[in-house]
Amino acid sequence: MKYNLSAIQKTLEDITKTIKSVINVEVTIADSNLTRITASGSNLTKVGERISKTCVFSKALESKESFIIENPRVNIRCIDCDKKNECIEAAQVCCPIIVQGQAAGVIGLIAFDADQKKRIVENEINLLDFLKNMSKLIAAKLIEHESTQRIKRLANELDTTMDLLDIGVIYTDEKGRIERSNKTAQEYFSKNQLAKGKTIENILSLSPIGIVDTVKNKSFNYSEKERKFHGFYSVHPIIYDNETKGYVFTITELEELISVLSNIAGKSREITFDNIISENKEMISIINHAKQFARGNSSILIQGESGTGKELFARALHNESPRKDYPFIAVNCSALPENLIESELFGYEEGSFTGAKKGGNPGKFELAGEGTIFLDEIGDMPLHLQSKLLRVLQEKTFTRVGGNKSISMDARVISATNKNLETMVAESEFREDLYFRLNVIPIHIPSLRQRKDDIMILSNVFLRKFSNQFNKEVKYFEDELVDFLTNYSWPGNIRELENTVEYLVNISEEDFCKKSSLPNRLKKHFYDVESAEAETTPEKESINVMTIEEVEKNEIKKALKLYGRNSSGIDNAAEALNIGRATLYRKIKKYGL
Ligand SMILES: Nc1ncnc2c1ncn2[C@@H]1O[C@H](COP(=O)(O)OP(=O)(O)O)[C@@H](O)[C@H]1O
Ligand SMILES: [Mg+2]
Repeated sequence: MKYNLSAIQKTLEDITKTIKSVINVEVTIADSNLTRITASGSNLTKVGERISKTCVFSKALESKESFIIENPRVNIRCIDCDKKNECIEAAQVCCPIIVQGQAAGVIGLIAFDADQKKRIVENEINLLDFLKNMSKLIAAKLIEHESTQRIKRLANELDTTMDLLDIGVIYTDEKGRIERSNKTAQEYFSKNQLAKGKTIENILSLSPIGIVDTVKNKSFNYSEKERKFHGFYSVHPIIYDNETKGYVFTITELEELISVLSNIAGKSREITFDNIISENKEMISIINHAKQFARGNSSILIQGESGTGKELFARALHNESPRKDYPFIAVNCSALPENLIESELFGYEEGSFTGAKKGGNPGKFELAGEGTIFLDEIGDMPLHLQSKLLRVLQEKTFTRVGGNKSISMDARVISATNKNLETMVAESEFREDLYFRLNVIPIHIPSLRQRKDDIMILSNVFLRKFSNQFNKEVKYFEDELVDFLTNYSWPGNIRELENTVEYLVNISEEDFCKKSSLPNRLKKHFYDVESAEAETTPEKESINVMTIEEVEKNEIKKALKLYGRNSSGIDNAAEALNIGRATLYRKIKKYGL
């Protein structure tokens, strides 16, 4: 690297004055380009100018040697000097400034008269020693300056980088006293708490910092005045010279984490009871009750057919509860492979199974913190996990898989199922004690066919929604279609209705929707119903009795044919059959379909 003398000009001016006052000869310091950086006496006016390349200064730079010239102009080093004829100097001393083996400049002493020359010549040895020491001092100053610059630059890079991160970062010393924090951390915590010297324990409820080692994804709750949130932090010790010199804390706010993980979170935050559309008397009364239940802490079990709005209710319950600022964590118990549900729910510690993440992973209960955990399709939870869940709900604590530390469970539990849990209990497929725990507050949502008055209200809401969405001017349903929509049985309930209207708006080429544009599966159903009504006689039915298994197999076959076997086909088929996806897969396997 190239050392730049002008960066320490002030220091060089002081040194120039010192030399001048000690020896009383004129002093010049030039850099490696021979630019005069400082000078005394008559040369002061030449500061900033370049000294001729043929001057003896360049000899000192090239040779990295100090020397004295007692007879300028005739000295061998002056032979090729192009300023020889103008030179009025009586004697000269040159001493290179060597920094890490490189010549960064020269200190030059100049005598202009006999007195000055005498002082130089008589003290030759001492003088050279003195100049060498001055040169070493300058070199040390240069290195110091460079490293301060480097540290400033690094600190700047660090600050800029830290501020770009969307996780909070806090640096502390080895005692946990805050040194610096990034913008995100400053958004999370109050300015006062992040002030330099404050301890980190104030914001993250920590055990004394002395015993903190590497910590990963530990949950914490923060609450100060208006600001409340649930988050995770990790600690990374800063170790050098075999000692822990400080810590880096990285902090993630849970909501942030979740909105990164699932794009629905942003949307779900807005869902309230106002989003549950209904003019049905029974539904209005259910919604009013639910608004009351939202305030409490008791477990809620929402039952109702698939597509009736169970999840919508669960989200509204959360968003209109005192827990609304904490997370809403949904777990679909039927979508998880059996061997993963436990670690999904309760998390796991590092090394608890092959493929386990370093530092372990928090489970949904931990993520939910003081929020709401929504156990969807609870009827599909395997029996052995039902026992574990029951224990957790009773004891209000749980441990991560492979761990032994007990974590307190603060979340409210809302569960939902389209299965008849009472029947499952009676058939020992669902634990009765768990059923009672979950069902402290039962909410039963009626199917769409039980509230036909809602069908056209919802249809029109969806019509407006999709017309807007697709930038179309579709305004109404033709009468025949209204008839069909109102009388169809809607096994997939509101979800099916919503999808149907979406399809109709999509396909419509006029400003209304036609019955003839209905999707095939509905048309088919429509004609099936008509022909079945015309043809079926009790006699015929009794001749064709099939085993339940045969009926099941046939219906599954039919559903697969209708919806296809790709992922969304399976979803739709499962929905139409009113069974879980996992159950459908099991049955496909069982019947070899
Ligand atoms: N009363 C309602 N008003 C408006 N949209 C509804 C209503 N009920 C259900 N939906 C919509 O129907 C779809 C299915 O609802 P969801 O809550 O997922 O049902 P479930 O969990 O019971 O299967 C969602 O898109 C939801 O927004
Ligand atoms: Mg659902």
